[in-house]
Amino acid sequence: MKVLVFGGSFDPVHKGHVALLKQAIKQIAPDVTHIVPAYHSPFKAKSPTPFRLRMQMLKQAFSGMSKHLVFDDYELRRGGKTYTYQLINYLLKRYKNPQIYLLVGTDCLNDLHNWKNPQVIFDNAIVVAGKRKGYNENPARFNHIFLPGFFPKLSSSRVRAHIWMSGSVPATVPAQIIQTIYKNKLYGLSVHEWLKAHLKPNRYIHSQSVAELAGALSDIYDVNVETAVRAGILHDAGKGFSGPELVRFCRTHKIRVPFFEDICRQEPSLLHSYVSAWLAKHQFGIKDVQTLHAISEHTLGSLHMSTLSKILFVADISSKDRKYKDAFLIRNLALQDLEKALIYAANRKLLFTIDSQKWLCPLGIDLWNHLIKKGE
Ligand SMILES: [Fe+2]
Ligand SMILES: [Fe+2]
Repeated sequence: MKVLVFGGSFDPVHKGHVALLKQAIKQIAPDVTHIVPAYHSPFKAKSPTPFRLRMQMLKQAFSGMSKHLVFDDYELRRGGKTYTYQLINYLLKRYKNPQIYLLVGTDCLNDLHNWKNPQVIFDNAIVVAGKRKGYNENPARFNHIFLPGFFPKLSSSRVRAHIWMSGSVPATVPAQIIQTIYKNKLYGLSVHEWLKAHLKPNRYIHSQSVAELAGALSDIYDVNVETAVRAGILHDAGKGFSGPELVRFCRTHKIRVPFFEDICRQEPSLLHSYVSAWLAKHQFGIKDVQTLHAISEHTLGSLHMSTLSKILFVADISSKDRKYKDAFLIRNLALQDLEKALIYAANRKLLFTIDSQKWLCPLGIDLWNHLIKKGE
């Protein structure tokens, strides 16, 4: 009895998964195929899409591909983390003398021997993998089959980042699941809805542009793309409030802001970054501390900026919607040297403030001195 098994987070399932499974079913002609979405703890920092919805999307994407599909909630029933060797043991118990075929992406192939108890996998399953163009390694250490042809370089994290950035679902997901994503406002769509209702249209476009640039820079500077994009889209969430509203909001929610009284008197609009970080955390459930810091710091910076903070600070002042003449220069510089771009960005912010005869917050001056000292 041939048992094909395809596990993963599937958050969400994309066209790469569909292509892989289609080809595997064609090549192996299994008697039964188990689709096994991973269980994710709802308490983890990276809050996943509920199991029920990931399963629903899998059914929509895969149904009709074969009569013998089992949409298996094994990992949900187990709860907690399930390792692949445990999945294999479960299938060995469930069927009499099965020949198990484990379907994986090429990315997993070189790493398979690092998985927990890999020998259980190698002894009891044939690994089935799809190749991506340019892949030419041969992991001959275990029993495996390569599917014919090449498979697209798609990932669920890219799909999520795209939706967080743009508020629209990319064509890299199967058409059958698009409505499910919109209907359940997954992957930041509820945030987009809120932003559209609370920000002026230009500010919303600016937020999308910052998210886009932050995403591009994250690839270069080794920051998680989804994290960067999320920080970008949320960084000005509090920008819809007036000065007095921002002051009241900070007082009501006891938001800690350096030089608070001075800022309230001189330039309350500067409070929007702290209010945006509060909204990100309390309104939109962002738990990642670095993301929250980056949002708080995007206007004035700080002396201890993470790479994500630097990316957001620079992206905010040089996103493609910025039309002043140095924006293009800073944007291009950021693609090559983030530290240099940060100095330019801090410089431009100070000059804008001076040119418009506004008060200079000591935090902005501190950042400037810090950057110049570092560059000595
Ligand atoms: Fe801002
Ligand atoms: Fe901004």
